[in-house]
Amino acid sequence: MALRNIRTMGDEILNKVCKPVKENTPKLQMLIDDMFDTMYEAYGVGLAAPQVGMLKRLVVIDVGDGEGEEEFVSNPRVLINPEILETSGEQTGEEGCLSVPGKAGIVTRPNYVKVKALDRDFQEIVIEGEGLLARAICHECEHLDGHLYVERVEGELHDVGENETEE
Ligand code: NI
Repeated sequence: MALRNIRTMGDEILNKVCKPVKENTPKLQMLIDDMFDTMYEAYGVGLAAPQVGMLKRLVVIDVGDGEGEEEFVSNPRVLINPEILETSGEQTGEEGCLSVPGKAGIVTRPNYVKVKALDRDFQEIVIEGEGLLARAICHECEHLDGHLYVERVEGELHDVGENETEE
C-alpha cells in the first residue's frame, strides 16, 4: 500500500487537461492501487489521477454500493478514458472534493449518467449510475478536463467536519 500526496486547489496541475491512457502497464496498475489506498485513507468516494499529480484520464470511484446489508459495501470501480454518453434528470446536493479539504458546497448534477470507459484490465465497460454514483462520475470526469466542483457551487463553500465523504 502506498499513499500518494493529494494536490489541493491552487496547484496548477488540477487545472490541466489530462491525456488519454494508451497502454496497460505495471506502473498503471500500481497507480490505480495507490489511488484507491489514497482515496480510502482520506474517506473519499472518488479520486482522479490529476489529484495525485498524474495527467492521465483515469479515475477511481467507490460509493459503497456493493451487494450487502451494511450501509457502505465496497464496490471499487476503475474508469480509464471515461466518456459520458448520456445524462438525464437533476439532483441538487452537497458535494466535496479531496482537493478542497474541509469544504463543501451545493452543486446541481444530472441524476442519471451513462459512461463508457475501460476497466483496469482494459476491457470496455458501460456503467449506468444514479444518485451519488452519477454525481461522483460527473465530478471525477470533470477533474480530467481541469475543472473543480467549486466552479459550479451555488452560493458559498462552507466548512465541514472530518470524515464526511469527499470526492
Ligand atoms: Ni474532486
